[in-house]
Amino acid sequence: MIDFEHVGKTYGGWQAIEDLSLSIAEGEFCVLIGPSGSGKTTTLKMINRLIEHDSGRILFAGAEIRSFKPEELRRRMGYAIQSIGLFPHWTVEENIGTVPSLLKWPKAKIRDRVTELLELLNLDPAQYRDRYPHHLSGGQQQRIGVARALAADPDVLLMDEPFGALDPVTRDTLQLEMLRIHKASGKTIVLVTHDIDEAIRLGSRIVILDGGRIVQSGSPRDILARPANDFVSDFVGREDIGIKLLSIETVSSRVRRDGSASGEPIAATATLRNALSTLVARGVDSLPVADSDGSPLGAIHLADLVGPHP
Ligand SMILES: Nc1ncnc2c1ncn2[C@@H]1O[C@H](COP(=O)(O)OP(=O)(O)OP(=O)(O)O)[C@@H](O)[C@H]1O
Ligand SMILES: [Mg+2]
Repeated sequence: MIDFEHVGKTYGGWQAIEDLSLSIAEGEFCVLIGPSGSGKTTTLKMINRLIEHDSGRILFAGAEIRSFKPEELRRRMGYAIQSIGLFPHWTVEENIGTVPSLLKWPKAKIRDRVTELLELLNLDPAQYRDRYPHHLSGGQQQRIGVARALAADPDVLLMDEPFGALDPVTRDTLQLEMLRIHKASGKTIVLVTHDIDEAIRLGSRIVILDGGRIVQSGSPRDILARPANDFVSDFVGREDIGIKLLSIETVSSRVRRDGSASGEPIAATATLRNALSTLVARGVDSLPVADSDGSPLGAIHLADLVGPHP
């Protein structure tokens, strides 16, 4: 879907991106992560030509991105930026409706879409649709930015730290929402973050950048289980790697079909990390497990958390 071939970018003679090659398949949820200044935003903005690369090639759906008009790329790729970037003199409704208006959707259809997106992002449409950005909190503006990116149902979503200014509860809700949208729509998503837990939770692939180069690229499990070098180990949090491995597997994968455990059951969809935390908090070595209807499935045992992680 999006291919970088030996891409380079210099700013005034200084090399910000060097020999970057990366293939992002259709339907992939690709997370770019790395320290500040490592080139994440530059890489993302080169995809929709907000920044022009100066060597190598970038392909979108098999064609050089330079063969597309920038407006066409921006219609087909929803974009939510780090600094929010809402139009200050436009209402929430006008901001979210930017691309649908460009596409000349009928007014009623735009209005319905805005209602749907505001509800999705937990903002009451009646209360918020006619407000201006300066009458919103930072986190609310950020959610409007995400809604704007989703508005015209684009093939590709480019998101630059879209949840940075959110409190942990709202961030958690939106992360789950992104996972749901990704699963339901099969969209190709490229998301920038500096939060490794967010990367592990969301990414089907994590690409780690440092100094404008790719240091490692792989599934969350690859990165955690086989960090390519000391930089990656430090970056993913060397001491916490075991805990993070537990966060990418669910209780359902290790449930034993026995009825030995007692107490409040844990959901089969909870992560093994949640299970460990609950075991420790309750001071027990097993927990009953239930499915989403609350029917008993068996038990999860402390000893089973340390089995092999393939
Ligand atoms: N317009 C510009 N002119 C000159 N240098 C720039 C420009 N934009 C970015 N840079 C430099 O290029 C490097 C990469 O910047 P980029 O914004 O891609 O980093 P980033 O990984 O997104 O960082 P952060 O996590 O802080 O957002 C940085 O050293 C930055 O100072
Ligand atoms: Mg950035």
